[in-house]
Amino acid sequence: MSEPVVSKWNARYAHSGDSIPAPSEVLSRGARWLPDAQVSSSDGVARQRYALDLACGLGGNAHFLAKAGFSVCAWDISDVVIEQIRARKPNSIESASVRDVVACPPETRSFDVIVVSRFLDRALCPFIVDALKPDGILFYQTFVRGLKNKNFMLEPNELLTLFRPLHVLEYREPEPEHGDANKRGAIARAVQGMVKHPVSASSEASLIARRSS
Ligand SMILES: C[S@@+](CC[C@H](N)C(=O)[O-])C[C@H]1O[C@@H](n2cnc3c(N)ncnc32)[C@H](O)[C@@H]1O
Repeated sequence: MSEPVVSKWNARYAHSGDSIPAPSEVLSRGARWLPDAQVSSSDGVARQRYALDLACGLGGNAHFLAKAGFSVCAWDISDVVIEQIRARKPNSIESASVRDVVACPPETRSFDVIVVSRFLDRALCPFIVDALKPDGILFYQTFVRGLKNKNFMLEPNELLTLFRPLHVLEYREPEPEHGDANKRGAIARAVQGMVKHPVSASSEASLIARRSS
């Protein structure tokens, strides 16, 4: 586990208070793409579908999914924030765990829904695809600008490339910064043929996509 990363995030969360943040925009806006939280298995017994809030931070996405009826795992590298989530009462999150998702990615075909917000590790993306069950849905939202470290920011259209094996349901990207006509053209081409929405005014791109059966 990367100690500097853990220390940085533990320090940030040490004084973050106990309020549960709102879910990320990609999840609240795209909630209509969520599968039913309950499914009947072949023996007629109902079971909950499984959802993962990956690099969950204070767990806004995890709480939203748990309230919607999913069996939710919330994973983060920060033990401080995971303790905060566990200490909440009442708490409908099935499992909150300290986990370095880069060193220990989710297992193959283990989740019906995966949400990632404001976290980017490109090498992890194939594992995220692989961790979706057939028909599983990915909600992904993160920065295209505004961070000092460019490694954590998306290039134009990059989410589409990183998750190419998935079927795109919705994709949004903010307008490039003023004057960059080439990038604007690239984005316009990328959204052709997809479900189109006005580009977001924020500094984050978002993708909702499904793994085929
Ligand atoms: C910008 S915060 C986003 C938190 C939350 N997803 C949100 O949208 O509010 C990034 C989170 O990634 C976590 N993180 C960083 N590296 C990680 C890793 N290798 N494994 C798991 N979590 C990690 C940090 O602890 C932090 O909570």
